[in-house]
Amino acid sequence: MAIICKDNVITLKTKNSVYQMKEDRGFLFHTYYGPNVGDTDMSYLWRTIDRGFSGNPEGIDDRGFSLDTQLLEYPGYGTGDYRDYCLRVVYPDGSQVTNLKYVDHEILEGKYALEGLPAMYQGDEKAETLKITLRDIHRHVEVLLYYGVFENLDIITRACKVINQGEESVHLRRAYSMCLDFHQKDMDFIQFYGRHAMERVMERSPLHHGIQGVGSRRGYSSHQYNPFVMLAKHDTTEDSGWCWGSCFVYSGNFQAEAEVSQANNTRLTMGIHDTQFDFLLEPGESFTAPEVMLSFSSEGMGKLSRNYHKAIRRNICRGKFKNARRPILINNWEATYFGFDTDKLLEIAREAKNVGIEMLVMDDGWFGKRDDDNSGLGDWVVNEKKLPGGLKRLVDGVNEIGLKFGIWFEPEMVSEDSDLYREHPDWALKVPGHSLTRGRNQLVLDFSREDVRQYIFDKMSEILESANIEYVKWDANRHMTDVWSAMLPAERQGEVFHRYILGLYDFLEKITQKFPDVLFEGCSGGGGRFDAGMMYYHPQIWCSDDTDAIERLRIQYGTSFAYPVSTVGSHVSVCPNHQTGRSVSMKTRGVVAMSGTFGYELDITKMSEEDKNVVREQVEEFKKYYDLIQQGDYYRLSDDGTKSNYVAWQFVSEDQKESLVNVVVLRTKANPPFQFVYLRGLKAESLYHVEGTELNLTGAALMNGGYLLPVVSDDYEAVQIHLVECE
Ligand code: GLA
Repeated sequence: MAIICKDNVITLKTKNSVYQMKEDRGFLFHTYYGPNVGDTDMSYLWRTIDRGFSGNPEGIDDRGFSLDTQLLEYPGYGTGDYRDYCLRVVYPDGSQVTNLKYVDHEILEGKYALEGLPAMYQGDEKAETLKITLRDIHRHVEVLLYYGVFENLDIITRACKVINQGEESVHLRRAYSMCLDFHQKDMDFIQFYGRHAMERVMERSPLHHGIQGVGSRRGYSSHQYNPFVMLAKHDTTEDSGWCWGSCFVYSGNFQAEAEVSQANNTRLTMGIHDTQFDFLLEPGESFTAPEVMLSFSSEGMGKLSRNYHKAIRRNICRGKFKNARRPILINNWEATYFGFDTDKLLEIAREAKNVGIEMLVMDDGWFGKRDDDNSGLGDWVVNEKKLPGGLKRLVDGVNEIGLKFGIWFEPEMVSEDSDLYREHPDWALKVPGHSLTRGRNQLVLDFSREDVRQYIFDKMSEILESANIEYVKWDANRHMTDVWSAMLPAERQGEVFHRYILGLYDFLEKITQKFPDVLFEGCSGGGGRFDAGMMYYHPQIWCSDDTDAIERLRIQYGTSFAYPVSTVGSHVSVCPNHQTGRSVSMKTRGVVAMSGTFGYELDITKMSEEDKNVVREQVEEFKKYYDLIQQGDYYRLSDDGTKSNYVAWQFVSEDQKESLVNVVVLRTKANPPFQFVYLRGLKAESLYHVEGTELNLTGAALMNGGYLLPVVSDDYEAVQIHLVECE
């Protein structure tokens, strides 16, 4: 049993962690989340003292007892806990006080699901659900707290549902997904910030009194802050120490905050951002707050990452391509931008076939009037000037060459210069009569509207049915502004942001079900919607529009904290690189791109024979290492290059018999000091053969003595070390 209930204490147990809560005098307190302590009642750590200005709830005759200083599972607003809260409801009389009391709980077999929202599913794992009911006794607002316990994955999920059981309508102004309280404050807050073309840069800073946090009000999870955060003890490293992760399974606005209070305890909260959030609940209506995946590791951040990798790969990603081998693709974006036609694409396909590439992806520009990014979005009709004879002729041609065919869409957007917009100007998000804000000269379609979604769905289906299309790149190239929907009354305009995301999920569910054999790759100007919510529909996401291998080291390093390599869209592009102007060797570009779904994004028809031979070798190599890279355990062996002179990472097969170490040395140096890289995850006693050398070394030697890197003669040289256990 992963959920144990003894007296008033409920303990959730995973392989390496314990999460505990306790009901006392009607309140639901949090008592512990950390290493295994069995089912000891951790409330022995409680102490009450009479703190000035921390009030006491009515009915409790103890001036030391205040919600302001206790650890709580799901704090409501307005009853004496002045810290960050999870729930704020506005009632018809204008009052905002919610007094949540424990009612009962249930333990259920298997993992709960959330209607209309992505969430971890049970799959082949063992999972149990705890469902707790809290209720405001005066207002009849009920909160159902859901906990999913994945014992073997060391993951505990949380989500909740707020139901209006009263007779009058209420407004939800905040309904977070979870709160996690700690007794201590001696931890660091770790988050992943960024910008377009430089996403998910790790930043670690000590907690301080007050609130520290990240979030998005951009409508999507965003390039700027990722909806994954961690707390770690100050001395926690990759391989040792305690850390906690909180990963939001949601793709819209979010907020993640850590607050250190007057009593030096810490509160971590996560949920939908409450800016412009106002959900009207009529009697009987409910609101579901999306899922958060929590994990704890006492063996450092590397272990925490591997927990998430496994969980996302196995219990978030779905469909045929969760396990099926994905094709090595060539995308024409950086090769041609908007300037292509059927002949050019067929030429690329022919050359690609010669080197073993398996799929051609036609990017932006094949539809409507689209010779640059100022027009055409929304008109999903093939541009016969570029593709004479239509899509089928092109796709058949590509198939005859022996390649699969993939296509680009940007379903959620519309250009003002498009037939769709001229016909339906009210389909875009905007406030009538107001000036509006353009992004990439385009507007966002109102995906909270069923009719809008249905129209786009039909158009997209027509295209996908018109030829043998086996892959879709789903893009979204601006953030939201002017958020107002023509379909909703004034009192429901605070729901648009979330209804949009629900609409998007609904669309994605239907389209992936209708086309189960199509591989969907997510994208939002690169990694602007790189989150576990999207991974439920898209098993891979274009990681960044920055294809410079050296910049990618940092991006892919940050990305690896929560997300598995199988989700990371990564390609080799041309040099000088289009984003940075930097040139690095084909080898380095290949090594970096292989730590992802792998492909090419260049004009192969312009490549030298020598480079094409390198591509041929890389394609073979990637095929050889495919399972190891996609399914293996991932170890970071360095930082992101900020302090260290190399960036290194390693894949280890689950049975620990094979490993691939990847190193990019950043700077060549005169009279160079020796550089060692210390491997991880090997069997200490086993002997490993270092491919391409005479060396047979034990795992213990490679992990403790390290591997001596060759002396490099140029900046950014890459080294790959393949190890196989000796028979
Ligand atoms: C976004 C994507 C690119 C490319 C362009 C096309 O920026 O991230 O890869 O598809 O759109 O307009």
